[in-house]
Amino acid sequence: MTEAPPLAPPMAMLAELTHRCPLSCPYCSNPLELTKRDAELSTEEWCDTFRQAGDLGVLHVHLSGGEPASRRDLEQLVAAARDAGLYTNLITSGIGLTADRLKRLTDQGLDHVQLSIQGTEQESADRFGGYKGGHARKMEVAQWIGDLGLPLTINAVMHRQNIDRLEKTIEVAVSLGARRLEVATVQFQGWAAKNRGALLPTRAQVEAATRTVEDARERLAGTLVIDYVPADYYARFPKPCMGGWGKVGLVVTPSGEVKPCHAADIITTLKFQNLRDAPLAEIWHNSSAFNAFRGTDWMQEPCRSCERRELDFGGCRCQAMAIAGDAAATDPACEKSPLHAALQDLTQSAEDAPTDFVYRTLGG
Ligand code: SF4
Ligand code: FES
Repeated sequence: MTEAPPLAPPMAMLAELTHRCPLSCPYCSNPLELTKRDAELSTEEWCDTFRQAGDLGVLHVHLSGGEPASRRDLEQLVAAARDAGLYTNLITSGIGLTADRLKRLTDQGLDHVQLSIQGTEQESADRFGGYKGGHARKMEVAQWIGDLGLPLTINAVMHRQNIDRLEKTIEVAVSLGARRLEVATVQFQGWAAKNRGALLPTRAQVEAATRTVEDARERLAGTLVIDYVPADYYARFPKPCMGGWGKVGLVVTPSGEVKPCHAADIITTLKFQNLRDAPLAEIWHNSSAFNAFRGTDWMQEPCRSCERRELDFGGCRCQAMAIAGDAAATDPACEKSPLHAALQDLTQSAEDAPTDFVYRTLGG
């Protein structure tokens, strides 16, 4: 029997500083049960978490939410992450930031900003985010980021009602001075599953979007890097979700739970440990939740004997749980899954489904 290679440290930590958020996107990726403010980790607890992450060997911290700017101590948290030797990336809607606050964050050592946009025109973008005036504010925030010389990535979640504006989205990213654009099609876990009918793009839209990305990558080489996560409902094989379970990253929730994936709450058989009870390194190396789907021993057929098992790691554990009811099943996005046809059936109605949303609210 060959011995498993020693476990490398996680490269990145997603720090969900809070679930509070002024927007109410219908595809919110936060769990259905949100953490209330009084259960959030304190400033000192987050600072200690960043120190532990640095000691463990984490390189990047993504300061996320909810809206991380809802935390009044964000400046202190950026400084602590920087002191711990972490590259700091702020993932923000822009709402709650001012030019002064961004300057203070930069002074504390903020390295990079990822700003989300919901669309390219004010009216529709504000409708998708459920926040009036949000789009105009984001355009202002992007300007301030540029003025401070901070590198900017634009995050654009794509769905049936905005994917036809992808070309324009790319133009907006270039005009805002972004160096990178992340185009991700909605993942139908958590709240987004409630809006699948209104959000799922059609096959024709997905094919057109793929062509648009390919053309733009060629045309804008050296100006804009485009990361693209296509809709896996139309794919033959799944994506290597999270880069492999417990392989390259970890997530810390607002209340200090440590999870291999932000959506992992759906896997009710897993028990997540909390930083208030155990050190980060101990959780990364030994917790049952992290070890549940590491390597390939947990796989069932067809993954177990598939030549792609080290490429996509059997796909997404959360999607397997959501659709197959078994987190160790083959992701139904894979054409070898017995549930692949059922997944394809869900796409049939995409063309004429209603366009109204069930918006996300903090109360759920
Ligand atoms: Fe990936 Fe499993 Fe499908 Fe093979 S059978 S392509 S490992 S999901
Ligand atoms: Fe959790 Fe894919 S979303 S593993």
